Amino acid sequence: MTELLVIDANTPQAAALESAASLLRAGELVAFATETVYGLGADATQDEAVAKIFAAKGRPQTNPLIAHVASTEMARAWAGSWPAVAGALAGAFWPGPLTLVVRRTARFAPAVSAGLETVALRVPEPAVARGLIAALGRPVAAPSANRSEHVSPTIAQHVMDDLEGQVALVLDSGPTGVGIESTVVDVTGEVPTVLRRGPIGVERLRGVVGDLRVIDQRADGSEAQASPGQSVRHYAPDVPCVRVESGYEAREGDAMIALGRSVPGAIVLPTPEAAARELYALLRRLEGEGVAKIVVVMPPDESQWAAVRDRLVRATVAVDR
Ligand code: TXA
Ligand code: MG
Repeated sequence: MTELLVIDANTPQAAALESAASLLRAGELVAFATETVYGLGADATQDEAVAKIFAAKGRPQTNPLIAHVASTEMARAWAGSWPAVAGALAGAFWPGPLTLVVRRTARFAPAVSAGLETVALRVPEPAVARGLIAALGRPVAAPSANRSEHVSPTIAQHVMDDLEGQVALVLDSGPTGVGIESTVVDVTGEVPTVLRRGPIGVERLRGVVGDLRVIDQRADGSEAQASPGQSVRHYAPDVPCVRVESGYEAREGDAMIALGRSVPGAIVLPTPEAAARELYALLRRLEGEGVAKIVVVMPPDESQWAAVRDRLVRATVAVDR
């Protein structure tokens, strides 16, 4: 049984946060909104609870989770290392859609790190997310609250659609604001390395840390798996989904989405921010409407579109016209 509980996004009811934290303490799963997407949370110190996340999602055991913490102080207390770049990036972007990979400590359940010596940490912005972590008093391990490889959830109903019956409680605080998953940066090496592009772009990161590497997995999967979750096919709707770089003659029954430009007959997502916010809900809606095929007219290959392009490449198959 899954309970769906509406909670105030700005001033979450303390009793609701307390009962959600009690469920986590009892080893149950609780889904909640972050500023990016909804997360499927478990107490990050309980291996059996964390194992339920993998089972509920059908997630490969080799793909580690993000541990959400309530503050930079809490991150430092739980991290096995805290290099100067971590401090600089946390100072600039936390709370926010940035995840830092640092050395782990044995306090985390091993399943959180999927056998790696590192752990991914993030301080989410919303009051519900931080209030839940604070009420538990421990980090909350949470991947996106979707079936593995399906589109990430940006409203509570998406979580219900994918995971009803597999999660004890879904806290519904409305749609997430940002809409695509956090930027992931590994700060354990000499040079900080972007493992997953996201809402905080490479230029903004470079403005804080200077030297920065980016690992972009190519669509053919040829790039090494530095971030185990960056499988090529990911974030995909259950409908054939193709991408083209410019205009397209839609066939009867096709749905077309155009990003950053207007194309006759297409649903247009004009800016990178609007596209990030609305893309996943749109893909799920079209999937639900039973369209034959989704055709995505790609946004320009420019830096401000890089994170959205990354997600679209994973969700679609390239076609020649
Ligand atoms: O915005 C987000 O990041 C959302 C919200 C819920 O916080 N979470 C999310 O989680 O997208 P998930 O599990 O779908 O993606 C986490 C990514 C995966 O690509 C995973 O492989 C990577 O972070 N990751 C986690 N721990 C890692 C580690 N120790 N080393 C390298 N990559 C790691
Ligand atoms: Mg995910």
